[in-house]
Amino acid sequence: MTTINKCLFPVAGYGTRFLPATKAIPKEMFPILTKPLLQHGVEEALSAGIVNMAIVTGRGKRAIEDHFDNAFELEAQLKNTPNEHYLKDIRHIIEKATFSYVRQKKMLGLGDAISTGKTLIGNETFAVILPDDLCTNSGDSVLAQMTLLHKDYPDCCIVAVEEVPNEEVGKYGIVEIESIPNVTKSMQNLAFKVTNMIEKPTLKESPSNLAIIGRYILTPEIFEVLEKTKPDNNGEIQITDALMTLAKKGKVIAYKFQGRRFDCGSVKGFVVATNYFAKAEGLI
Ligand code: UTP
Repeated sequence: MTTINKCLFPVAGYGTRFLPATKAIPKEMFPILTKPLLQHGVEEALSAGIVNMAIVTGRGKRAIEDHFDNAFELEAQLKNTPNEHYLKDIRHIIEKATFSYVRQKKMLGLGDAISTGKTLIGNETFAVILPDDLCTNSGDSVLAQMTLLHKDYPDCCIVAVEEVPNEEVGKYGIVEIESIPNVTKSMQNLAFKVTNMIEKPTLKESPSNLAIIGRYILTPEIFEVLEKTKPDNNGEIQITDALMTLAKKGKVIAYKFQGRRFDCGSVKGFVVATNYFAKAEGLI
């Protein structure tokens, strides 16, 4: 089976870099113009044909559940008024998508957050979107591009990668790649086999400049591997370490996506994204 039915959104993190704003408001609810980061992510999943959203949430993030639910009082207030159109996009999402939630008990890293999502995913291949990596493209969305690639490699995990400057390799999981024998023509120079990956390497130990960004397609095998993956020095379970186990079996593909990514988990990236979308809307 090659269809992907569910998209996992690990959004339990503390958002420390945005304190004090993240004390009571989840980072994922910060808007780029009027739309929360998580809504951008959900729209990307829908654009890839995925309607079931599985959200790994945490304490203090109830606003997320309210956002993707009906708000009867507001609906009634705005019905048949000139302001009703403001609710159009979110109404469409609520109608089309399902949302299920589980809470990560302790924030023990992205790997642990993905393990926590197992109860919502079950035994099937699934997509992962980290909404603080906001992606945009004039053609197919990044996740839609990846689901197409998945059809050719249903037994492999896929990670989206992009080149980052030398001084930034230490912020990411970095991959070493080689070409895939007989890769389809349209994927030449875009899809590669991952042979090694290192989380937050020094420039010296970094195998390349290709950084993993917040889009993944994961086979259910990842859950077994995550269970056996040991925490790093900070006590966090890294998805990169688990993926490395699968890469050793030749089961991880790196995909150089078409489009642009904004690191909205950092204040600078958030401002850059806001300016980009404001310009695109003719607001500045
Ligand atoms: P980040 O490290 O970018 O997010 O994790 P953060 O921890 O919220 O932010 P800072 O570093 O404290 O500023 C990447 C993604 O993984 C999720 C985060 O919510 C974010 O979407 N995550 C991280 C979890 O869901 N659980 C965790 O234990 C860690």
